[in-house]
Amino acid sequence: MDRHENERRIVAGIVEDHGRDACRLLSILREVQREFRHVSPDAQQTVAQALGVCVTQVKAVVEFYSFLSTNPLGEFDIRISDSITDHLLGSRDVAASLCRKLGIRPGETRRDGRVSLAFTSCTGLCDQGPAGLVNGYAIPRLTGERIDRVAELINDDTPLGDWPGELFAVENNIRLADRLLGNPVRPGDSLARALAQGGETMFGEIESSGLRGRGGAGFNTAWKWRFCYEGPEEEAVCPPGQPAAKIERYVVCNADEGEPGTFKDRVLLQSYADQVFEGMTVCAHLVGAKQGFLYLRGEYLYLHQRLEGVLAERRRKGLLGEGILGRKGFDFDIEVRLGAGAYICGEESALIESLEGKRGVPRNRPPYPVTHGYLGKPTVVNNVETFFAAAAITLRGGEWFASVGTEKSKGTKLLSICGDCSRPGIYEYPFGVTISRILDDCGADDTLGVQIGGPSGIFISDREFGRKLAFEDLATGGSFIVFDRTRDVLEIARNFTHFFAHESCGFCTPCRVGTSLLKNLLDKIGDGHGAAGDLAELSRLGRFVRSTSHCGLGQTAANPILSTLERYPELYQKRLKTIDFEPGFDLDGALAIARRLSGRDDENAHLTQT
Ligand SMILES: Cc1cc2nc3c(=O)[nH]c(=O)nc-3n(C[C@H](O)[C@H](O)[C@H](O)COP(=O)(O)O)c2cc1C
Ligand code: SF4
Repeated sequence: MDRHENERRIVAGIVEDHGRDACRLLSILREVQREFRHVSPDAQQTVAQALGVCVTQVKAVVEFYSFLSTNPLGEFDIRISDSITDHLLGSRDVAASLCRKLGIRPGETRRDGRVSLAFTSCTGLCDQGPAGLVNGYAIPRLTGERIDRVAELINDDTPLGDWPGELFAVENNIRLADRLLGNPVRPGDSLARALAQGGETMFGEIESSGLRGRGGAGFNTAWKWRFCYEGPEEEAVCPPGQPAAKIERYVVCNADEGEPGTFKDRVLLQSYADQVFEGMTVCAHLVGAKQGFLYLRGEYLYLHQRLEGVLAERRRKGLLGEGILGRKGFDFDIEVRLGAGAYICGEESALIESLEGKRGVPRNRPPYPVTHGYLGKPTVVNNVETFFAAAAITLRGGEWFASVGTEKSKGTKLLSICGDCSRPGIYEYPFGVTISRILDDCGADDTLGVQIGGPSGIFISDREFGRKLAFEDLATGGSFIVFDRTRDVLEIARNFTHFFAHESCGFCTPCRVGTSLLKNLLDKIGDGHGAAGDLAELSRLGRFVRSTSHCGLGQTAANPILSTLERYPELYQKRLKTIDFEPGFDLDGALAIARRLSGRDDENAHLTQT
């Protein structure tokens, strides 16, 4: 059997193992990538044939996800996090050092096929950066000796499975626990209470807790669950003479956690996964779902086996599967599905597309997932922390939760704190806490400002540290990045703007083109070529992208620029040239390389030319 035939046989086997289910396309492609280090056109063809779908559909999916590649990556594929906090901690030096030791350049696969290195968006390890991934597995604290160790292991061709475990050790860094982190639920306790109290009482508890979604938008959780429950029971159209089919419902846990600076879901999944699954199962009981998914970002691959272990244990204890806790008809199970490096898949409708094996392009809304979600069926999508809190509320009651917080933001919130502070990590605070209190607790000195809610949130200055974390004031999905006075506001905005341009899914023009234009303009200003006209254009374009984009990514992509421009106009002004306009193309800069190559970059070069 020739090599190609063998490859086709293996690929067809992978598709077979996934039950030839087109919804599992992303999982199939991830496996093909792992096996062959890329998804070749031939493999795409084989997958398409075996699934009975068009090859262009498979190709489109491969090209969409940054962890899939059509060109072979190295046996050791290194990705260095490009998040702002990793930058602050020296990620560029890490990459340069690794490149030197491995004889490679960023974005390249070495000729012998042994190693490739590239940058990637935030890996969710901002409290222990600079961080990276090797073959998808997270390696935190890439400093000094650890960089040497990684380079040695690769140069010695040591299989990844034989690398010292301590290289992959990810810390929890829980610094402050309140009512949720401090009182974990024992597996089964919340479910037992839900079954004993009955559905209406439990809906009432979730409602009285005032719980709002922890993924950022803050939608009322009880309402979401109720909308799903109250959706149609049976298909409106059914074949003549047959009973109407029941409409399935689904529960999806959004563990995509791609917002730079956010890592609290990582900690919940690492140490409180049982409680997250318990919350999902309570939700399934209330809305009548039989199937759940945990959509785990590809960067958290290292958690996958552990999560499967927790699920297996829950099945063994009768907390998942058929007849949960002995209740006839209470059947529910959870499947973990991995993403593949696309921030947009955190947006709930893009996530559902991804779960269905497609590119993560956000859907038109309405209809919302709660009525038309996975496979067009009613689907609850909630953040990891929302399910985690819901399990505690089910056991301890709505009043217990709502007794802290503010009028419109009940309970506590987990924050992922990182950047310029001596105690980065996870902090749990009742809503309403002030920024200055948080800065004191995390050991932040001489703070210039804080990015609240990640790049899609806002940058607040030191004049605003009396403001409160709450939906009524400063809302956040959990990201809290501290910057001290040594930092350059423009460089921060630049990093975030590059992030959005890279992560735009490309579906709608204002975001696809607008984020690139914003990036180019900011680069121009940052590099000292900006003029007053560019600043006005930056502001105009930013507002245009915000108001015309199709989904939350585009609608927030200009926030880093607009919020810093509003607070620090003088810092932008200082970078401008004293003319009103300068062309985007820098002729002198472009010719500099040619001058250098031809030895004409030094002033007196012409004297030595013949
Ligand atoms: C670009 C984008 C990325 C998002 N990423 C996440 C994410 O990683 N995790 C998350 O829970 N919600 C994310 N969201 C919000 C989800 O669309 C959705 O509102 C959330 O999962 C609902 O859960 P909740 O009600 O529990 O917050 C994102 C939204 C957008 C627009
Ligand atoms: S706003 Fe951006 S991310 Fe959202 S659909 Fe449009 S192109 Fe895609």
